[in-house]
Amino acid sequence: MRLLVCGGAGFIGSTFARQRVHEHDDEVTVLDKLTYAGREENLHDLVDDARFRFIRGAIEDREAVAAAIEAGAPEAIVNFAAETHVDRSIAEPDAFVSTHALGTYVLLEAAREHQLRYLQVSTDEVYGSIAEGTFTEESPLAPSSPYSATKAGADLLVQSYFHTYGLSALICRGSNNYGPYQYPEKLIPLMILNALHGDSLPVYGDGMQVRNWIHASDFAAAIGHVLEQGNAGELYNAGGPDEEANLTVVRRIVALTGASESQIEHVTDRPGHDRRYSLSSQKLRALGWSPRVRFEEGLERTVAWYRENSWWWEPIRSGEYRAYYERQYGRSLS
Ligand code: NAD
Ligand code: TYD
Repeated sequence: MRLLVCGGAGFIGSTFARQRVHEHDDEVTVLDKLTYAGREENLHDLVDDARFRFIRGAIEDREAVAAAIEAGAPEAIVNFAAETHVDRSIAEPDAFVSTHALGTYVLLEAAREHQLRYLQVSTDEVYGSIAEGTFTEESPLAPSSPYSATKAGADLLVQSYFHTYGLSALICRGSNNYGPYQYPEKLIPLMILNALHGDSLPVYGDGMQVRNWIHASDFAAAIGHVLEQGNAGELYNAGGPDEEANLTVVRRIVALTGASESQIEHVTDRPGHDRRYSLSSQKLRALGWSPRVRFEEGLERTVAWYRENSWWWEPIRSGEYRAYYERQYGRSLS
Protein backbone atom coordinates (compact mmCIF):
# COMPACT_ATOMS: atom_id res chain seq x y z
CA MET A 1 0.00 0.00 0.00
CA ARG A 2 0.93 3.64 -0.36
CA LEU A 3 0.08 5.47 2.85
CA LEU A 4 0.00 9.05 4.06
CA VAL A 5 0.82 8.84 7.77
CA CYS A 6 -0.02 12.10 9.54
CA GLY A 7 1.74 12.59 12.86
CA GLY A 8 4.22 9.89 11.86
CA ALA A 9 7.15 11.57 13.63
CA GLY A 10 5.58 10.95 17.04
CA PHE A 11 5.79 7.91 19.30
CA ILE A 12 3.14 5.57 17.85
CA GLY A 13 3.11 7.04 14.33
CA SER A 14 6.83 6.35 13.90
CA THR A 15 6.35 2.82 15.25
CA PHE A 16 3.58 2.32 12.69
CA ALA A 17 5.61 3.82 9.81
CA ARG A 18 8.58 1.54 10.65
CA GLN A 19 6.32 -1.51 10.83
CA ARG A 20 4.61 -0.77 7.53
CA VAL A 21 7.84 -0.16 5.60
CA HIS A 22 9.94 -2.93 7.15
CA GLU A 23 7.32 -5.64 7.61
CA HIS A 24 4.75 -4.88 4.89
CA ASP A 25 6.87 -3.24 2.19
CA ASP A 26 4.47 -0.27 2.09
CA GLU A 27 5.39 3.14 0.69
CA VAL A 28 4.98 5.67 3.49
CA THR A 29 4.82 9.45 3.33
CA VAL A 30 4.88 11.07 6.76
CA LEU A 31 3.31 14.53 7.18
CA ASP A 32 4.16 15.99 10.57
CA LYS A 33 4.25 19.48 12.04
CA LEU A 34 7.14 18.55 14.37
CA THR A 35 5.67 19.95 17.56
CA TYR A 36 7.70 19.46 20.74
CA ALA A 37 6.64 15.78 20.60
CA GLY A 38 7.44 15.13 16.94
CA ARG A 39 11.05 14.34 16.12
CA GLU A 40 12.79 13.24 12.93
CA GLU A 41 15.08 11.19 15.22
CA ASN A 42 12.11 8.87 15.73
CA LEU A 43 12.39 7.97 12.04
CA HIS A 44 16.21 7.68 11.96
CA ASP A 45 16.17 4.17 10.50
CA LEU A 46 13.75 5.09 7.69
CA VAL A 47 15.16 8.32 6.27
CA ASP A 48 17.42 6.61 3.73
CA ASP A 49 14.79 4.09 2.61
CA ALA A 50 13.41 4.64 -0.92
CA ARG A 51 9.96 3.59 0.33
CA PHE A 52 9.89 6.46 2.82
CA ARG A 53 9.36 10.21 2.53
CA PHE A 54 9.09 12.92 5.19
CA ILE A 55 7.25 16.22 4.76
CA ARG A 56 7.03 18.85 7.46
CA GLY A 57 3.57 20.41 7.68
CA ALA A 58 0.43 20.75 9.76
CA ILE A 59 -2.73 18.76 9.07
CA GLU A 60 -4.83 21.93 9.39
CA ASP A 61 -2.84 23.46 6.51
CA ARG A 62 -4.76 22.56 3.32
CA GLU A 63 -1.79 23.30 1.06
CA ALA A 64 0.58 21.11 3.06
CA VAL A 65 -1.93 18.26 2.96
CA ALA A 66 -2.45 18.70 -0.81
CA ALA A 67 1.33 18.69 -1.37
CA ALA A 68 1.74 15.51 0.68
CA ILE A 69 -1.00 13.77 -1.31
CA GLU A 70 0.57 14.92 -4.56
CA ALA A 71 4.00 13.67 -3.47
CA GLY A 72 2.96 10.30 -2.07
CA ALA A 73 -0.12 9.41 -4.19
CA PRO A 74 -1.53 7.51 -1.19
CA GLU A 75 -4.34 4.97 -1.22
CA ALA A 76 -5.13 5.76 2.41
CA ILE A 77 -4.59 8.38 5.10
CA VAL A 78 -3.83 7.24 8.64
CA ASN A 79 -4.13 10.10 11.11
CA PHE A 80 -2.01 9.97 14.27
CA ALA A 81 -1.44 13.75 14.34
CA ALA A 82 -2.58 15.07 17.71
CA GLU A 83 -1.69 16.85 20.88
CA THR A 84 -1.54 13.91 23.23
CA HIS A 85 -0.81 14.88 26.81
CA VAL A 86 -3.76 15.27 29.19
CA ASP A 87 -1.84 17.56 31.60
CA ARG A 88 -0.93 19.93 28.77
CA SER A 89 -4.58 19.95 27.62
CA ILE A 90 -5.57 21.09 31.11
CA ALA A 91 -2.94 23.86 31.15
CA GLU A 92 -3.29 25.00 27.50
CA PRO A 93 -6.18 23.49 25.52
CA ASP A 94 -5.75 25.72 22.43
CA ALA A 95 -3.73 23.45 20.14
CA PHE A 96 -5.90 20.48 21.10
CA VAL A 97 -8.95 22.16 19.64
CA SER A 98 -7.28 23.31 16.43
CA THR A 99 -5.39 20.10 15.65
CA HIS A 100 -8.17 17.69 16.56
CA ALA A 101 -11.14 19.61 15.16
CA LEU A 102 -9.79 21.66 12.25
CA GLY A 103 -6.92 19.31 11.39
CA THR A 104 -9.15 16.23 11.22
CA TYR A 105 -11.65 18.19 9.11
CA VAL A 106 -8.97 19.21 6.58
CA LEU A 107 -7.78 15.60 6.26
CA LEU A 108 -11.33 14.29 5.85
CA GLU A 109 -11.96 16.82 3.07
CA ALA A 110 -8.76 15.73 1.33
CA ALA A 111 -9.74 12.05 1.68
CA ARG A 112 -13.16 12.85 0.23
CA GLU A 113 -11.73 14.80 -2.70
CA HIS A 114 -9.26 12.03 -3.61
CA GLN A 115 -11.54 9.13 -2.57
CA LEU A 116 -9.02 7.70 -0.13
CA ARG A 117 -9.59 5.25 2.70
CA TYR A 118 -9.26 7.12 6.01
CA LEU A 119 -8.29 5.78 9.42
CA GLN A 120 -8.51 7.95 12.53
CA VAL A 121 -6.30 6.90 15.42
CA SER A 122 -8.23 7.43 18.64
CA THR A 123 -8.17 6.62 22.31
CA ASP A 124 -10.14 4.77 25.00
CA GLU A 125 -10.18 8.06 26.92
CA VAL A 126 -13.20 9.17 24.83
CA TYR A 127 -15.29 6.73 26.91
CA GLY A 128 -14.25 8.35 30.19
CA SER A 129 -13.61 6.39 33.39
CA ILE A 130 -15.06 2.96 34.20
CA ALA A 131 -15.20 1.63 37.78
CA GLU A 132 -15.99 -1.98 36.87
CA GLY A 133 -16.26 -3.99 33.68
CA THR A 134 -14.85 -2.93 30.33
CA PHE A 135 -15.70 -0.53 27.49
CA THR A 136 -16.95 -1.86 24.16
CA GLU A 137 -17.44 -0.01 20.88
CA GLU A 138 -21.06 0.57 21.96
CA SER A 139 -20.16 2.37 25.18
CA PRO A 140 -21.26 6.01 25.25
CA LEU A 141 -18.76 8.84 24.87
CA ALA A 142 -18.06 10.58 28.19
CA PRO A 143 -14.68 12.32 27.90
CA SER A 144 -13.28 14.13 30.95
CA SER A 145 -10.36 16.25 29.71
CA PRO A 146 -9.91 18.77 26.89
CA TYR A 147 -7.66 16.11 25.31
CA SER A 148 -10.26 13.36 25.30
CA ALA A 149 -13.18 15.70 24.52
CA THR A 150 -11.50 17.04 21.38
CA LYS A 151 -10.48 13.49 20.36
CA ALA A 152 -14.14 12.43 20.78
CA GLY A 153 -15.23 15.38 18.64
CA ALA A 154 -12.82 14.33 15.90
CA ASP A 155 -14.20 10.76 16.01
CA LEU A 156 -17.75 12.06 15.55
CA LEU A 157 -16.67 14.14 12.57
CA VAL A 158 -15.01 11.07 11.02
CA GLN A 159 -18.22 9.07 11.46
CA SER A 160 -20.24 11.88 9.89
CA TYR A 161 -18.10 11.66 6.74
CA PHE A 162 -19.00 7.99 6.41
CA HIS A 163 -22.72 8.60 6.94
CA THR A 164 -22.96 11.79 4.89
CA TYR A 165 -20.48 11.29 2.07
CA GLY A 166 -19.89 7.53 2.08
CA LEU A 167 -16.21 8.05 2.87
CA SER A 168 -14.40 4.78 3.60
CA ALA A 169 -13.64 5.92 7.14
CA LEU A 170 -12.54 3.83 10.12
CA ILE A 171 -11.60 4.53 13.73
CA CYS A 172 -9.24 2.52 15.93
CA ARG A 173 -9.27 3.35 19.66
CA GLY A 174 -6.26 2.26 21.68
CA SER A 175 -5.62 1.99 25.39
CA ASN A 176 -2.50 3.45 27.10
CA ASN A 177 0.59 2.82 24.97
CA TYR A 178 4.18 2.36 26.12
CA GLY A 179 7.46 1.41 24.46
CA PRO A 180 10.53 3.00 22.80
CA TYR A 181 10.43 6.60 21.51
CA GLN A 182 7.68 7.78 23.90
CA TYR A 183 8.13 11.41 24.96
CA PRO A 184 9.05 11.48 28.67
CA GLU A 185 6.06 13.61 29.74
CA LYS A 186 4.04 10.34 29.87
CA LEU A 187 3.98 8.14 32.99
CA ILE A 188 6.27 5.27 32.00
CA PRO A 189 9.19 7.10 30.31
CA LEU A 190 8.95 9.92 32.87
CA MET A 191 9.34 7.45 35.72
CA ILE A 192 12.12 5.47 33.97
CA LEU A 193 14.24 8.58 33.29
CA ASN A 194 13.61 10.08 36.73
CA ALA A 195 14.45 6.75 38.36
CA LEU A 196 17.71 6.50 36.38
CA HIS A 197 18.65 10.08 37.33
CA GLY A 198 17.82 9.80 41.04
CA ASP A 199 14.98 12.34 40.66
CA SER A 200 11.73 12.03 42.59
CA LEU A 201 8.90 9.95 41.10
CA PRO A 202 5.73 12.10 41.17
CA VAL A 203 2.67 9.88 41.63
CA TYR A 204 -0.63 11.74 41.27
CA GLY A 205 -2.95 11.31 44.28
CA ASP A 206 -3.02 7.82 45.81
CA GLY A 207 -1.58 6.16 42.67
CA MET A 208 -4.41 3.61 42.59
CA GLN A 209 -5.66 4.77 39.18
CA VAL A 210 -5.69 1.87 36.72
CA ARG A 211 -4.54 1.92 33.11
CA ASN A 212 -4.86 -0.82 30.45
CA TRP A 213 -1.33 -1.01 28.96
CA ILE A 214 -0.62 -1.89 25.34
CA HIS A 215 2.83 -2.05 23.75
CA ALA A 216 3.06 0.42 20.84
CA SER A 217 4.08 -2.38 18.44
CA ASP A 218 0.78 -4.13 19.23
CA PHE A 219 -1.28 -0.97 18.77
CA ALA A 220 0.53 -0.21 15.48
CA ALA A 221 -0.29 -3.74 14.30
CA ALA A 222 -3.93 -3.25 15.33
CA ILE A 223 -4.12 -0.08 13.23
CA GLY A 224 -2.62 -1.89 10.22
CA HIS A 225 -5.11 -4.71 10.74
CA VAL A 226 -8.10 -2.34 10.86
CA LEU A 227 -6.82 -0.56 7.76
CA GLU A 228 -6.58 -3.83 5.84
CA GLN A 229 -9.53 -5.78 7.23
CA GLY A 230 -11.93 -3.31 8.86
CA ASN A 231 -15.39 -2.50 7.52
CA ALA A 232 -15.85 1.09 6.39
CA GLY A 233 -17.81 3.20 8.86
CA GLU A 234 -16.92 1.03 11.85
CA LEU A 235 -14.80 1.55 14.89
CA TYR A 236 -12.54 -0.97 16.60
CA ASN A 237 -11.09 -0.98 20.10
CA ALA A 238 -7.51 -2.19 20.62
CA GLY A 239 -6.78 -2.74 24.30
CA GLY A 240 -3.68 -4.20 25.88
CA PRO A 241 -3.58 -7.54 27.72
CA ASP A 242 -2.88 -6.14 31.22
CA GLU A 243 -4.34 -3.60 33.63
CA GLU A 244 -2.16 -2.13 36.35
CA ALA A 245 -2.43 0.50 39.07
CA ASN A 246 0.01 3.38 38.55
CA LEU A 247 1.76 2.73 41.85
CA THR A 248 2.42 -0.89 40.86
CA VAL A 249 3.93 0.30 37.57
CA VAL A 250 6.15 2.83 39.36
CA ARG A 251 7.31 0.22 41.88
CA ARG A 252 8.24 -2.15 39.03
CA ILE A 253 10.23 0.61 37.37
CA VAL A 254 12.02 1.26 40.65
CA ALA A 255 12.95 -2.44 40.81
CA LEU A 256 14.01 -2.66 37.14
CA THR A 257 16.20 0.45 37.32
CA GLY A 258 17.72 -0.26 40.72
CA ALA A 259 16.31 3.03 42.04
CA SER A 260 14.98 3.52 45.56
CA GLU A 261 11.32 3.42 46.66
CA SER A 262 12.10 6.51 48.73
CA GLN A 263 12.15 8.43 45.40
CA ILE A 264 8.36 7.88 45.13
CA GLU A 265 6.48 11.03 46.09
CA HIS A 266 2.70 11.43 46.13
CA VAL A 267 1.85 14.82 44.60
CA THR A 268 -1.38 16.78 44.00
CA ASP A 269 -3.81 14.84 41.84
CA ARG A 270 -4.64 15.80 38.24
CA PRO A 271 -7.99 17.69 37.97
CA GLY A 272 -10.76 15.47 36.51
CA HIS A 273 -8.45 12.45 36.75
CA ASP A 274 -10.06 9.32 35.25
CA ARG A 275 -9.81 6.50 37.80
CA ARG A 276 -9.75 3.50 35.52
CA TYR A 277 -9.63 2.61 31.83
CA SER A 278 -10.45 -0.84 30.50
CA LEU A 279 -11.04 -1.74 26.89
CA SER A 280 -12.54 -4.84 25.30
CA SER A 281 -10.92 -5.79 21.97
CA GLN A 282 -13.28 -8.66 21.18
CA LYS A 283 -14.42 -7.14 17.91
CA LEU A 284 -10.87 -6.72 16.61
CA ARG A 285 -9.81 -10.10 17.98
CA ALA A 286 -12.64 -11.65 15.94
CA LEU A 287 -11.02 -10.04 12.91
CA GLY A 288 -7.73 -11.83 13.67
CA TRP A 289 -5.67 -9.33 15.72
CA SER A 290 -4.46 -9.90 19.26
CA PRO A 291 -1.79 -8.20 21.38
CA ARG A 292 1.47 -10.14 21.69
CA VAL A 293 3.46 -8.33 24.37
CA ARG A 294 2.57 -8.92 28.02
CA PHE A 295 3.16 -5.88 30.23
CA GLU A 296 5.82 -7.43 32.44
CA GLU A 297 8.03 -8.34 29.47
CA GLY A 298 7.28 -5.14 27.55
CA LEU A 299 8.14 -2.94 30.53
CA GLU A 300 11.45 -4.73 31.04
CA ARG A 301 12.33 -4.22 27.34
CA THR A 302 11.25 -0.58 27.52
CA VAL A 303 13.45 0.12 30.54
CA ALA A 304 16.37 -1.52 28.68
CA TRP A 305 15.70 0.63 25.59
CA TYR A 306 15.79 3.89 27.60
CA ARG A 307 18.96 2.75 29.34
CA GLU A 308 20.65 2.02 26.00
CA ASN A 309 19.42 5.01 24.01
CA SER A 310 20.50 8.13 25.87
CA TRP A 311 21.27 9.68 22.41
CA TRP A 312 17.48 9.82 21.98
CA TRP A 313 16.41 11.34 25.32
CA GLU A 314 19.39 13.51 26.30
CA PRO A 315 18.43 16.37 23.93
CA ILE A 316 14.83 16.18 25.23
CA ARG A 317 15.81 16.31 28.89
CA SER A 318 17.98 19.35 28.28
CA GLY A 319 15.45 21.23 26.11
CA GLU A 320 11.75 22.24 26.15
CA TYR A 321 10.92 19.35 28.45
CA ARG A 322 12.95 20.85 31.32
CA ALA A 323 10.87 24.03 31.28
CA TYR A 324 7.64 22.03 30.94
CA TYR A 325 8.64 19.87 33.92
CA GLU A 326 9.27 22.91 36.08
CA ARG A 327 5.89 24.41 35.17
CA GLN A 328 4.01 21.15 35.70
CA TYR A 329 5.75 19.80 38.80
CA GLY A 330 7.08 22.98 40.40
CA ARG A 331 10.59 21.58 40.64
CA SER A 332 13.63 21.08 38.41
CA LEU A 333 15.02 17.90 36.93
CA SER A 334 18.54 17.00 38.02
P1 NAD B 1 2.90 11.95 20.18
O1 NAD B 1 2.60 13.18 20.95
O2 NAD B 1 4.15 11.18 20.46
O3 NAD B 1 2.94 12.31 18.62
C1 NAD B 1 2.02 13.16 17.99
C2 NAD B 1 2.62 13.57 16.65
O4 NAD B 1 1.68 14.41 15.97
C3 NAD B 1 3.91 14.38 16.78
O5 NAD B 1 4.87 13.89 15.86
C4 NAD B 1 3.49 15.80 16.44
O6 NAD B 1 4.53 16.57 15.86
C5 NAD B 1 2.37 15.53 15.46
N1 NAD B 1 1.41 16.66 15.36
C6 NAD B 1 0.79 17.30 16.38
N2 NAD B 1 -0.02 18.25 15.90
C7 NAD B 1 0.09 18.20 14.55
C8 NAD B 1 -0.51 18.93 13.49
N3 NAD B 1 -1.39 19.91 13.74
N4 NAD B 1 -0.18 18.60 12.22
C9 NAD B 1 0.72 17.62 11.97
N5 NAD B 1 1.32 16.91 12.92
C10 NAD B 1 1.00 17.19 14.20
O7 NAD B 1 1.62 11.04 20.32
P2 NAD B 1 1.40 9.45 20.27
O8 NAD B 1 1.42 8.96 21.65
O9 NAD B 1 2.27 8.86 19.24
O10 NAD B 1 -0.12 9.40 19.80
C11 NAD B 1 -0.45 9.26 18.42
C12 NAD B 1 -1.96 9.10 18.27
O11 NAD B 1 -2.40 7.96 19.02
C13 NAD B 1 -2.76 10.29 18.80
O12 NAD B 1 -3.83 10.54 17.91
C14 NAD B 1 -3.28 9.82 20.15
O13 NAD B 1 -4.48 10.44 20.48
C15 NAD B 1 -3.46 8.34 19.88
N6 NAD B 1 -3.36 7.48 21.07
C16 NAD B 1 -2.29 7.58 21.90
C17 NAD B 1 -2.20 6.74 23.01
C18 NAD B 1 -1.03 6.79 23.96
O14 NAD B 1 -1.06 6.14 25.01
N7 NAD B 1 0.05 7.51 23.65
C19 NAD B 1 -3.23 5.82 23.26
C20 NAD B 1 -4.31 5.74 22.38
C21 NAD B 1 -4.36 6.58 21.28
P1 TYD C 1 -0.32 9.55 31.23
O1 TYD C 1 0.92 8.83 30.81
O2 TYD C 1 -0.34 11.04 31.22
O3 TYD C 1 -1.49 8.96 30.33
P2 TYD C 1 -3.11 9.19 30.44
O4 TYD C 1 -3.38 10.35 31.31
O5 TYD C 1 -3.44 9.48 29.01
O6 TYD C 1 -3.67 7.92 30.94
O7 TYD C 1 -0.71 9.08 32.69
C1 TYD C 1 -0.94 7.72 32.99
C2 TYD C 1 -1.38 7.65 34.43
O8 TYD C 1 -0.29 8.03 35.27
C3 TYD C 1 -2.52 8.58 34.78
O9 TYD C 1 -3.37 7.95 35.74
C4 TYD C 1 -1.82 9.78 35.42
C5 TYD C 1 -0.63 9.14 36.10
N1 TYD C 1 0.57 10.01 36.21
C6 TYD C 1 1.19 10.20 37.46
O10 TYD C 1 0.75 9.66 38.48
N2 TYD C 1 2.29 10.99 37.51
C7 TYD C 1 2.80 11.60 36.41
O11 TYD C 1 3.81 12.35 36.54
C8 TYD C 1 2.18 11.38 35.13
C9 TYD C 1 2.71 12.03 33.89
C10 TYD C 1 1.07 10.55 35.08
